[in-house]
This record gives sequence, C-alpha cells and structure tokens, in this order.
Amino acid sequence: MKKILLSLATAMLLVPTAFSQVYLDAKAPIEERVEDALERLTLEEKLGLIHAQSKFSSAGVPRLGIPTVWCTDGPHGIRAEVLWDEWNTAGWTNDSVTAFPALTCLAATFNPNMSLLYGRAIGEEALYRGKQVLLGPGVNIYRTPLNGRNFEYMGEDPCLSATMVVPYIKGVQAQGVAACVKHFALNNQEDGRHTTNVHVSDRALYEIYLPAFKAAVQQGGAWSIMGSYNRYRDQYACHNQYLLQDILRKEWHFDGAVISDWGGCCNTDQAIHNGLDMEFGSWTNGLTEGKSNAYANYYLADPYRDLILAGKVGTEELDQKVRNVLRLIFRTSMNGYVKYGALCNEEHQSVARRIAGEGIVLLQNNGGLLPIKKEVKKILVVGENAIKPLTVGGGSSSLKVKYEISPLAGICERAGKDFDVKYVRGYVGTGATVQDGMVSGAEMEDKRPVAEVQAEAVAAAREADLVIFIGGLNKEGHQDCEGVDRLQYELPYGQDEIIAKLAAVNPNIVFVNISGNAVAMPWLQQVPAVLQGWFNGSEAGHALADVLFGDVNPSGKLPFTIMPALTDYPAHQMGAEVYPGVSNEHYPILMEEYYKEDLFVGYRYADLSPKARKALTGVACKSQPLFAFGHGLSYTTFAYSDVKLEGRFLTVTITNTGDRAGKEAVQLYVAPQKPKVARPVKELKAFKKIALEPGESRTVKFEIKDEMLQYFDDQKHEWTLDAGKYQLLVASSSADIRGKAMYEVK
Ligand code: BGC
Repeated sequence: MKKILLSLATAMLLVPTAFSQVYLDAKAPIEERVEDALERLTLEEKLGLIHAQSKFSSAGVPRLGIPTVWCTDGPHGIRAEVLWDEWNTAGWTNDSVTAFPALTCLAATFNPNMSLLYGRAIGEEALYRGKQVLLGPGVNIYRTPLNGRNFEYMGEDPCLSATMVVPYIKGVQAQGVAACVKHFALNNQEDGRHTTNVHVSDRALYEIYLPAFKAAVQQGGAWSIMGSYNRYRDQYACHNQYLLQDILRKEWHFDGAVISDWGGCCNTDQAIHNGLDMEFGSWTNGLTEGKSNAYANYYLADPYRDLILAGKVGTEELDQKVRNVLRLIFRTSMNGYVKYGALCNEEHQSVARRIAGEGIVLLQNNGGLLPIKKEVKKILVVGENAIKPLTVGGGSSSLKVKYEISPLAGICERAGKDFDVKYVRGYVGTGATVQDGMVSGAEMEDKRPVAEVQAEAVAAAREADLVIFIGGLNKEGHQDCEGVDRLQYELPYGQDEIIAKLAAVNPNIVFVNISGNAVAMPWLQQVPAVLQGWFNGSEAGHALADVLFGDVNPSGKLPFTIMPALTDYPAHQMGAEVYPGVSNEHYPILMEEYYKEDLFVGYRYADLSPKARKALTGVACKSQPLFAFGHGLSYTTFAYSDVKLEGRFLTVTITNTGDRAGKEAVQLYVAPQKPKVARPVKELKAFKKIALEPGESRTVKFEIKDEMLQYFDDQKHEWTLDAGKYQLLVASSSADIRGKAMYEVK
C-alpha cells in the first residue's frame, strides 16, 4: 500500500512537469522556456517568428499564445501608427506622444542620470502604445558634420556615447520593452547608405566605432540590436559574419535578437548563416514582390523554407534565430510583469524639459549678454525655427506629438508682461508643412521677396534692446534628415547674410542654433552670445526660455567639435574616397569608402599639430576649433584645484566661484606619453557631472582603470596595456585643461 501511495505521489509530481507548459511560466528560467517553446514549434511557425508580417510587426504563434512582436521608432519618441503595409500614417487619434530631445542633446547633458530618466520615460510611452521593441537608441559616431542623422546619435566620442547609452537602455528595458541599438555598424553617413562598403582599420573600428555598441550589449544588456544598411568587408552589415558572428556573438556574447534595418536584408544565404535573427522592411510597400503576400517572399521566409525542404540547409541556424526571438518575447510581452506604461503624462513632460534644459550648450557669452537682464525691455525674436514645428521631419524619427512648445511660444510665455516681445521672420525656408506623411499644421508660407523680409528684420532689430535669432537646420531633406546628407556646412536659406546684417545694427544679439550638427559661423566675432539649441522636442520652447532667462543655468557640453570650415574635418580633406565614397570599379552602383583619418575623428584630429595633420591627411591644416568638444559655458564659474593622484584614484576639488548655482561636467582625459604605437594626443576616459551652490566646493574622484589606458592591438587582436607614463588631464573641455597628474604603469 505504502509503495502504491509513493508511486502515485511520484507520478503526480512528474505528470505536471512532463506536460506543463514551461514556456508560459514567467518564473521559470528563461533558457528553459526558450527550449520548451522551441520544441513545440512547426517549421512554418519558426519562420513566422523571424520575418515581418507587416511594416512594423512579426507574427507570433497564436496557437501557443505567443504574441506578435511590435516594433516602433525611436529614438526620440514613439512613432505614429502606420498602415499595415505602408509607411503612411494610419490616422489614429490616440497615438500622439511626447517628443523627447534628440539624442545629441541628451549626450550634451554629459549626465547619465538624464539618460536613465529618458529611457524610463520613453520606455513607458512604448509600453503604453503596446510596443515590445523600441528602435533606438542610435550610437553611430559623428564622423562628419554632413551626416544627415547625427542628430539621432550621441556625438563623436566613444567614451561619451558608451557612457550615455547604457542608462537609456536600462531605463527602457526596466519597462519590459527591448531597446534596439542602432545602426550596427559603420553607418556614419546617409549618402550611399545602402551601397557603401566601409574600409576601416581594426584599431579605428574597435577604438572609435564599436565601444558604444559594446557598452550597450555588455553593460546595458541590450535585448536587441539593429544591423545597418551599409556594407563592411564586402558584406551587408545586416548579415555580416565579422560584425554579427565574430564580434557581437563570439567576442561580446550577445544573447539578444539581431534585427535588420528596414530593407537591410538582401541575401538569404548570408542571412541564414551570418547571424541575422529578424528581417524587416524588405519590400517597402509590402506588396511589390508577391501579389498575395509579400512577406512570404522575404529572404528569411519562403526562400529559406524552400532551402530547408530541399535539404540544402539544415535547421540548426533557424533554431538559433528562433531562440533569440523567443528570448526577446519572454523578456518583453511574456515577462509576466503587469505594467501599463504611460503616455504624455506630466512626468514625461518634465523629463523632456529637464533634459532639454540641461543639454542646451552656451557656446559663447561675451560681455555676459545672457541671461536676459531686467533692463532689457524690447526683445526681438527672429528666424523661422522660432515658429516651425521641428518634432516633425528628419525621417523615421519624425513624431506626431500631443503638443510642441515652439521657441517663440516659450519665450513669450516666460516674458509675460515684463518684456515686450516682437517676432519677425528674418528668413524663409521652403515653406514645407508636411514631412514623412506627418502634417505639422503650421502655416509656414511667406512669399515676400528676400529683401523685404530682411529689411523688416533689420528695421525691427534697430528698435530692440535684444535680438534673439533662432535658426539652424530644420529636418527637411539635406537639413538634418535621414536618407540624405547635408549639402553644405553653411547655414541654409541665407541665414548667414541676415545674421550679419542684424549684428551690424544691434550688437546685443544671440544666435540659437537648432540642429544636430555643427554649422559654419562666419559672423561669430559680431555675435556675442551663441547657444547650441538642438531639436528639443515637445518642451523645446520652455527649455530654451529657461536658459535664456536664467531660470536654468546652462550646463550642456558639446558632444562634437565645431571647426570653422568643412575642410577642417579630416573626412573632407582626402577626396571622395574618404567621403562620400567612390564607385566600385566592377559594380559602379556599389560605393567604396575609406576611413583614412583612422582614429583621428573630432578632437582627436583637432589636437594634432599641423605637421601631424599633414602626415595624416596630406593637408597641413592650421585651423583650431571654433568650439571644442566638451566645451560649454555656465552663468557661473568653476575653479579646479587640488588635483591629487593616490594610487589608482585621482581627486580634484571643484568650487563654484560665481553667484548662482550651477552644474559642471568634469572631464578626465588620458594622454599616453611616448606611446609605442600611434595614439591620439588625449582621449576622454571618464566624466562626472556635479551640482554646486555658489561658493560650494566638492571633490570629484575618478578611478583609473587599466581599460582607460589601453589600445587595441590589431596584430594580436586584443586590448593591450603598455608600461609607461600616462598623463591624466582634468578638464572643463577638451581645450580647457585645468589640472594634470602623471600615472605610471610599471
Ligand atoms: C531607419 C531605421 C528605422 C527603420 C524603421 C530605417 O530606414 O534606418 O533607423 O528604425 O527605418 O523606420
């Protein structure tokens, strides 16, 4: 009897395990869930998981209760719903969102806490909108100021972008939404993005172009990554053996899903073998290829199935892809948490405003023109970007917002009755009001002759106490926009001419550059105050007014170098081979591009002597930055003192020596002394942002880690630390070194 009871009990214990659906148990270890689900899937169901079923979704497995995966752009807000098979908006009335500041602005905060706030808030909006994958953040390095998508990225420096990307991902993923870090890798321009084969040294690849992706994977724990459109070593990045298999999987141990950029997959065989997990966007209108169901024609759909059925490929790779997708699903829609997210709530608005205010960079403030003084009575606001909706446009990051505070509206609101604010246009752009299928709703047309528009502005400027010119780029084609690069470094629509004219009649003039890129500033001597204003989203106008009126003390630092002219950037000194690429000799439609400036991007180039520059690019360029990487002024001042190195720890005391509270991003650069291999003069290796009341001092501590001193040895294919001396530079910008110490590696 006892025996019978025992075996009954054992059977009862065993039966539920044998027949239970482990994959549905959110508490079970994820790998067990994955294997359990995998075993239950048919071939068709597996294939359904790895390619799109609509513009932004892939099929789940309804039979097993595994839901559809919904993706959304990214990276500045949740994109409006589009039609099933098309890019056109679906016309929903409940998909208006908060536009957060562009990632260039986020990077400019030099404040990882802002990244975390950003990630959490945008993750909540994604969750509320029912999305599992947020297509962002973007961390391609700022190689040239012409890149149309620099505004979606985090600047020129690998340490800055690697540090800032991690909390963004953690914030998003804490909501149960996957971040999809893009565009992996070497997508550093828009011109020729679908055809360009990038030739880059291993050192530049590992030291400059990959660190932010690596940090996203290893420190951020990103659950997905997007392959880019371009090629590298003759293979498309979306199915690139070197990038996806060798580096991402083998070296970095990425366990998430590799998602193709939309239309970035173009070869079944490579997609099978080289590490792509999910194919999206291959036929852009969903219907061109295949009359009944275009999605069945995707490279990873019927063509893949046919190869398997014909015995030409096995199912090992397929199972691996499915595992990666199942893991993505179990981490997101099937994670067992009950969370609903939130859309456009007050918290998100305040996050958007705070980040924008902290990212705006005060580049120049001669004579202390800013913040706006009480004595100023008449303020003249000039420029199209003061009134143009700028959350719309730019390509896939274009947003349908619940509201957008324009700079003019923000200034008027803050000025209230204390100031008399007048607005004139000053210059007129294209008048476009529809971009990427999104109607901005603003009336931008102004058909008056240029001379009349300019004369009106000049006359008004004569009468004003202060002129605030709000211009820059505007996310239309060639003006910071996906798909095309800028055509010129200079400001468009005759802005340089009108700025110079205004400055000639009123020396109290502020230029606010709304852009994600550096621009030429030929009138800089005549314009005492300059702000880098970014595309700042829903709260743009409030944040700008906060800074202009001094309610927020600016603390943003430039995430890229502003050189005087385009030809002062090394990518523009060596001909078309180096930018934008030249035709392949056998297949003229394909482009080849050589990153001959190698490691010397941004300040790494600006730091070189004319002789070293000549050796690098053939041009003995003598230009110095107009504004250096890491530069940004405050309405207060900071003194750096007591730089001390004890063992591995460097400390420095920062004192607020002015009369208002402020924040400073303290930067640590490392300068290897007499290195064995060519190395940049110095490189940013850490930074900390601190807040100080007037008169307050605080000590900032940095730990010197070996990895801060290493370089990538391309012969041994590993990071290497050489013995020798390394100067540690404590700085307020890459051009403003405030203290030094010598560190030695024996
Ligand atoms: C862009 C991606 C974007 C995708 C979906 C592509 O054209 O390069 O960044 O996420 O479209 O809109």
